[in-house]
Amino acid sequence: MSIYEERVLPYLVNLACSSKPASKQRQKIVPYAEGVVLEIGVGTGLNFPFYDSQKVIKIWALEPSEGMQVLAKKAPRDSQLNIEFITTPSEELPFEEASIDTIVVTYVLCTIPDVELALQQMLKVLKPGGKLLFSEHGSAPDEPVKFLQNIVNPVWRKLAGGCNLNRNIPILLQEAGFILKQDERMYIPGYRLFSYNYWGVAVKN
Ligand SMILES: C[S@@+](CC[C@H](N)C(=O)[O-])C[C@H]1O[C@@H](n2cnc3c(N)ncnc32)[C@H](O)[C@@H]1O
Repeated sequence: MSIYEERVLPYLVNLACSSKPASKQRQKIVPYAEGVVLEIGVGTGLNFPFYDSQKVIKIWALEPSEGMQVLAKKAPRDSQLNIEFITTPSEELPFEEASIDTIVVTYVLCTIPDVELALQQMLKVLKPGGKLLFSEHGSAPDEPVKFLQNIVNPVWRKLAGGCNLNRNIPILLQEAGFILKQDERMYIPGYRLFSYNYWGVAVKN
């Protein structure tokens, strides 16, 4: 990874992802995590304050960027949470099949380079009946916004550490084999290019 990605990007991501509307979205899903949890691309640890330590046995905090991990290790959290960091990318999950109760993904499916492969891996390591909690930004429903997202995306992706503006998250989840149990979507406050949010619960049958 470049110096920009390791030293500068973590602070920019922390700033962009810690907005009030994004925090409200985190609050809607993260408290439902239970058992053995795998959080994909924890970034700077902005979800940590929302976990319920009474329900969570352990959190595997996957984050390929060492620069992000430096900040995440200092993020506020309940001291009873057992959090262990791992650095492998989500396309190569080092877990046994059907060993995870809950997977948490927030504002990360936009960035994972091979998102289809990563979702297949997630489905594999999740226990049958296990859930994937998601809150993501993505492709807007309005044609003019969608058009602009597609135009801006190549430049944005370079500046924003690989983030894509135009992924349709529920479709990606369904194509990977997840069943959507809760599927909500709306613009949250912010620029329309970046603020169409998808959130909810996807399960493995
Ligand atoms: C926009 S940040 C979001 C961080 C965090 N999930 C949040 O909600 O604030 C995207 C994160 O995805 C991580 N990432 C990039 N490639 C990844 C991969 N292949 N597997 C898992 N995480 C990845 C980045 O390092 C970064 O921390």
